This record gives sequence, C-alpha cells and structure tokens, in this order.
Amino acid sequence: MIKKELNRKTDILTDSVIRRMTRLAIDHDAINLSQGFPDFNPPQFIMDRLQEIALAGPHQYSPTWGQIEYRKALAKKLEHWMGIPIDPNENLLATVGSTEAMMASLMALCNPGDKVVIFSPYFENYFAQAVFNSVEPVFVPLIPPKFTFDADVLEAAFKDPKTKAMILCNPSNPSGRVFTKEELQTIADLAIRHDVIIITDEVYEHIIFAPHKHTYIASLPGMWERTVCCSSLSKTYSITGWRLGYIAAEKSLLDRCKKVHDFLTVCAPTPLQMAVIPGLEAPDSYYEEFGAQYTRVKDIFTKGLTDIGFRYTEPEGTYFLMVDISDFAKGKSDTEFCEEMTVKLGVAAVPGSSFFNEDVNHLARFHFSKKEETLYEALERLSDIRKKM
Ligand SMILES: Cc1ncc(COP(=O)(O)O)c(C=O)c1O
Repeated sequence: MIKKELNRKTDILTDSVIRRMTRLAIDHDAINLSQGFPDFNPPQFIMDRLQEIALAGPHQYSPTWGQIEYRKALAKKLEHWMGIPIDPNENLLATVGSTEAMMASLMALCNPGDKVVIFSPYFENYFAQAVFNSVEPVFVPLIPPKFTFDADVLEAAFKDPKTKAMILCNPSNPSGRVFTKEELQTIADLAIRHDVIIITDEVYEHIIFAPHKHTYIASLPGMWERTVCCSSLSKTYSITGWRLGYIAAEKSLLDRCKKVHDFLTVCAPTPLQMAVIPGLEAPDSYYEEFGAQYTRVKDIFTKGLTDIGFRYTEPEGTYFLMVDISDFAKGKSDTEFCEEMTVKLGVAAVPGSSFFNEDVNHLARFHFSKKEETLYEALERLSDIRKKM
C-alpha cells in the first residue's frame, strides 16, 4: 500500500455521472437516454471507406498534427461552414475528440490560478478539465427555462484580471440552447474589451432546429485571433467511438496547443482520420438530411413526453432536452429519481444537478440520438411512470 499522498485532484473529482448512468443502464438492460450516442450506424459511405482503409492502411502513427489528407478535407469543410480561411498546416490540429482538444487548449493557454468562465448548466468534462489544470472555474448562470444569461454578470466575471478564458459550448449541452448572433456579439465584445480567450466546444454545430441558426463566434469581427475552436466528428458523422476531433485556431494560439497534443496523445487514430474523409467532403444535402432526421426524432420524443405529462425546455439544437421531473419525483432527489427510473422503467437519464453549479434538483437530461423505434419503446416504458414509480 502506498503511504505517500497521491494527486489531491483525484481525491476531489468523482467519476462522470453521465458515464455512471450508462453503466447502470447496461446492468439493468435499460434504454440508455443518458450518455449521448446513437444506436444507429454511421453513413454507409463512411463505413465503405473504413473497409477499404482496413485492408490498404495506413495503420501506423500519423504525423502528429494529423494526416494531411484529413486536415485538407477538414479545412475545406470549415471554410465552407465558418466562412473563415483555414490553412491546413497553420490552423488545424487533429485531436482525439473534442475532449482532447479542450484539455489541450486549457493546458496550452492557462497557468495555475487562472480563472475560466463557464456557463452553468455545463457539460461535466469542463469542471474536471479545469481542476486537472489547477484553473478555477467561474460559473455564470444560464437562467432556466429559457437558459439566457445576464451580460452584467458575465462582464463582472470577465473583468477579473485573473480571467484568462471562457469555455463556450454552443449549441449547448445540456440546455439545448443555440446562442443568437446578438448574444454571441455580446460575449465577443466583452472578450475583446477584457482580453479574454474564447475556447469553443461546437460538437453539435450541425444539430440545429429551425428557425435557429448556428453562428461560429470565431467568425465575428475581431474574434478569430482570440478564439480556439474545438469540435468533433463524433456527433456529425455518428462515430462517437472513433475519437476524432480538432482544434482550429490562429497560428500563434494553435502552436501552443500542438505542443501539448504532441506529448499527450501523439496523434489521433490514423486509419479513422482517413476513413472519415468522405464525410468531410459530403455535400450540403448530407447535413440537410442529417438535420431533418434529428428534427423528426426530436418531434417524436417531445410529443411523446408531452402526452405523458412531462414539461421540458424545447431544444433549439443538440440532441438533449431538460425535463422537469417535479410532478413525478414525489420527494426523491433527481439522482434517486433517475436511478429508480432506470431500474423500474428501464429508461436511463442523467440527473440535472450534475450539470449545475447552482442548487437545481428538479431536472433530468434525456437524449434522443436513437432510432425512431427505440424512442417509441422508451416512451412506451415512460408512460408507466405513474403506475411503477
Ligand atoms: C458538449 C460536448 N462536448 C464534447 C463531447 C465529447 O466529444 P468527443 O467525442 O469529440 O470527445 C460531448 C459528448 O457528449 C459533448 O456533449
């Protein structure tokens, strides 16, 4: 038994509540609407290329910044969607998902004792990543049910000279908010005024429900030089297990991130970088159909929840929604409620409190990245909630 004190940060942090709910769902054979990943395959044209690459290679380390074919295809895609010129050598780094992209950004840009502003509710990785970097998270509330923010509260956080950066998740998990151009302009103005870097997490950039539109904050005037764009291919091509993501940023910021990535993971999976290229080269019609399918399953799921009597915030983007459980919880905490729902109804969701810095206990996060028949089955099971819970 080791007697010396081990890293104190690993004392403070618990495992991820989201991924814990997945384990509980597996144990009880529940439909897993907790951790967000699809139960359907990636597009056939990507799987076909994967088969070819499996036989032909490459299978060894890629150049640490990413296969040049991956970076070239990605640069073209980003230029098309973001409207910003992207040099595949100077402005792009292939990472192991957005998870590594964000960790590498924080490690590269922050010093111990710096502060990082995070909207609450927030994706739980951000807290752990801040703690591991000895960075202090400063939470600014997004006020439910509309999940809007108060610009004065945000400015107070930005004014602190210790504030180095803001992590901006847009479209936002778990709230489903897609920030308007005006809201992003407010954040951008404050970032420029107070010299704050914006680290984005835009993994849901292509899951947007009309009439909402995704604006890349990096595309606003004066923002490219102070934005580190982190994103992922996990959600856009339904390949969460492939672990592909990237950082797009101005050269002087990206060069620092590259140093961290070089020693953290060496490179993203080489054959998978190559296999996803047909996805990166897909025409606009791919994204239209992708968005239309997510709109269909959102409509199925939200209608079903309404019929059962649940109240929820209509998502503007992402595949999550926050459901008010007060009418069903009967005095249970949100954690007890979600655990009992997994065991007794066979449907898993995430207790809302795990996303909030504030004391919020009446919400649960469900995701609907599932086949239509899976969602119908989940709704069928949920319709027994009054009888069984
Ligand atoms: C907001 C957000 N960021 C990042 C991730 C993880 O992305 P990746 O699979 O690229 O690491 C997720 C996954 O659920 C997410 O919801």
